[in-house]
Amino acid sequence: MDFEFAGVAEGIAREAGALLKEFYERGVEMEYKGDVDLVTEADKASEALIGRLLKEAFPSHGVYGEEGTRRALDSEYRWYVDPLDGTTNFAHGFPAFCVLLGLERREAGLAAGEDGEMVAGVTYDPLRNEMFVAERGRGAWLNGKRISVSKIRTLQESLTATGFPSQKRHENPNAHFYQEITLRSHGVRRAGSAGLDLAYVACGRLDGYWEFKLNPWDTSAGYLLVEEAGGTVTHFDGGKFTLDSREVLATNGLILPEMEHVFAEMFSGRGMGPLPTPAEFAERRKAAAR
Ligand code: IPD
Ligand code: CA
Ligand code: CA
Repeated sequence: MDFEFAGVAEGIAREAGALLKEFYERGVEMEYKGDVDLVTEADKASEALIGRLLKEAFPSHGVYGEEGTRRALDSEYRWYVDPLDGTTNFAHGFPAFCVLLGLERREAGLAAGEDGEMVAGVTYDPLRNEMFVAERGRGAWLNGKRISVSKIRTLQESLTATGFPSQKRHENPNAHFYQEITLRSHGVRRAGSAGLDLAYVACGRLDGYWEFKLNPWDTSAGYLLVEEAGGTVTHFDGGKFTLDSREVLATNGLILPEMEHVFAEMFSGRGMGPLPTPAEFAERRKAAAR
């Protein structure tokens, strides 16, 4: 009866999305959670609403939300909640954000760090009124129509996406990967919502997506969407993805071997040299102007 969960989650995501839209249209104050990690009153209000609605619908279920909700984590069912994915976009008025709800079924006896099985996932983009829904074994859907991953066969013909964490970007090697895949493909988008990136792989708007250091609330819904749409979600070397993985690579399956190959080359050191310094850039500009 897991499929009933997705229907209820859809309603909850729609309500949270409507709330976000109101905040977005009126404008919100930005606050900082850390040095550069933004949070707004909308993130908190959305999580409070989702937490309340989940409790009404499924009183025994666990909830694990980005803004701090932790409830009944030893239950059979656990909801991962990202009440606003794309906060930086939202706070700047850039129209790319969504609500994410992923439901995991955890058999009795699983250790804290072990994954159960994702059974439902919902990604809702309130500005475009796009509702992506996945149910384990029953496919992936966008506004009621079945979706599937793209049929693009080569990296060269592909459009992919990535993202950068807001914290400690200088420690993150992703700029190198961004450069490398950009040069080898139709391009890499960086729209600022991991949830939408994964949903777009599921419906074929993107052929691949990767990112370092995401959290379960970012990936749980999209993970199921991509798998149910016929794609793959793995580590960069094709290894098994789990909700607390520190890397995620989602593809249409067809470009996975090439992406794995590029990542392996990068990790072996090729292309990972330091980026040019500002002085070297200045030198290059002068040389180009001559
Ligand atoms: C962020 C977005 C962004 C990704 C960051 C996430 P948030 O989530 O998904 O695209 O690059 O790593 O943290 O903070 O806006 O919910
Ligand atoms: Ca997020
Ligand atoms: Ca968030």
